[in-house]
Amino acid sequence: MSEKPTPASKVLDRVLVLEMVRVTEAAAIAASNLVGRGDEKAADHAAVEAMRKAFDELYMDGTVVIGEGERDEAPMLFIGEKVGGAPGKGPKIDIALDPLEGTTITAKAGPNALAVLAAAEEGGLLNAPDVYMDKIAVGPGYPEGVIDLDKSPTENVKAVAAAKGVKPEDIIVCVLDRPRHEALIAELRGLGCGVVLIGDGDVAGVIAVTDENTTIDMYMGSGGAPEGVLAAAALRCVGGQFNGRLLFRNDDERGRARKWGITDLNKIYKLEELAKGDCIFAATGVTSGSLLDGVKHLKGGRMTTESVVMRASSGTVRWIKGEHRTV
Ligand code: FBP
Repeated sequence: MSEKPTPASKVLDRVLVLEMVRVTEAAAIAASNLVGRGDEKAADHAAVEAMRKAFDELYMDGTVVIGEGERDEAPMLFIGEKVGGAPGKGPKIDIALDPLEGTTITAKAGPNALAVLAAAEEGGLLNAPDVYMDKIAVGPGYPEGVIDLDKSPTENVKAVAAAKGVKPEDIIVCVLDRPRHEALIAELRGLGCGVVLIGDGDVAGVIAVTDENTTIDMYMGSGGAPEGVLAAAALRCVGGQFNGRLLFRNDDERGRARKWGITDLNKIYKLEELAKGDCIFAATGVTSGSLLDGVKHLKGGRMTTESVVMRASSGTVRWIKGEHRTV
C-alpha cells in the first residue's frame, strides 16, 4: 500500500466502497443482541462501540462530520473524531454515521432499524447540526423541481400526481407519526392520499420512495437533520429528489448551526448540497423492514445479515447477504 496521500479524485475508488459494509455489519450485529430488550441506550452503545472498532480496520484517514453528538456529549464517534486505520496517510474521507438509526425501534423490536453511514471526499457532506429538518422527497423519474418545500403539501402532492399521471388520491405519502405532523396528516387525508405512518426511522422512510415495491410515492415531514443528510446520500446514488430545511427551536440551535458554518438558516438544501461529489451510502438491517432484512441469529452461533452499499459516481447498488460465525 502506497504511503503517498491518495489523490482526491481517486479517494473513493479504493476498496473502501465494499469495506464500508463491514462497518455497518459490525454495528448491526452488535445491536441485534439487544433487539426487543427494551434498552435503547445499551443497544445504541453496542452499535457505537462496534462501529468505532470496525473503522480502525479501514485504510483511510476519516473524519466524522455527522456522528453521535459533539465532543463533550458523546464518548465515541463524536463530530470531528478521526476514524480509520491510516491517519495522515490514507484517503481523506468525511463520514456521516448513525450506528443505530432507530434506537426505540430496536428496543421494541419494530421494523426498519438500521446501522448506516455515508462517506464522501473531504468537504462532501453537509455538517448538519443535530436539529430537526423539514423534508420532502420523491423517487427517480420525475421532472426536476416537481417537489418544492416552499409550496404547500397540497401543491406538492398535486404536482407529483400530475407528473405520475394519477389523481392526488392515488398518491401514497410516508410521514413520521408525531403530534407535530397532525395538520400535515389531516391535509394529506383531506386530499384522499394514503398516509403510511412510521413510528421512527426516517432514513428508511425517505429511501422507501425510491423503491416501487413499497408503493410509497413521497416522504414528507420533519425529522433529524443528520438523518436527512444520510438519506440524501442514498438518493444521490439511486436517484430521486429531496428538499430539506433546518428547523430551529431556539437560539442555542441557531448558534450551533452557525458554528458549523451555516449562514442562511432558511436555506432549502437539495441533494447536491447535502452530499456532493462522489459519495457512498451503506446500511445493514438491524431489524427487518422495507429496505433490508434484519440480523438473524441461527443455530450453532451463525448469523445472517443483509446490507446495501451504493455509490453516486457509478450509480451501482450492491445488495450483500452475509453469513457470520461466532464460534
Ligand atoms: P434515533 O435512532 O436517534 O432514535 O432516531 C430515530 C428517528 O425516528 C429518526 O429516524 C428521525 O429522524 C428522528 O428520530 C425523529 O425525531 P423525533 O423522534 O424527535 O421526532
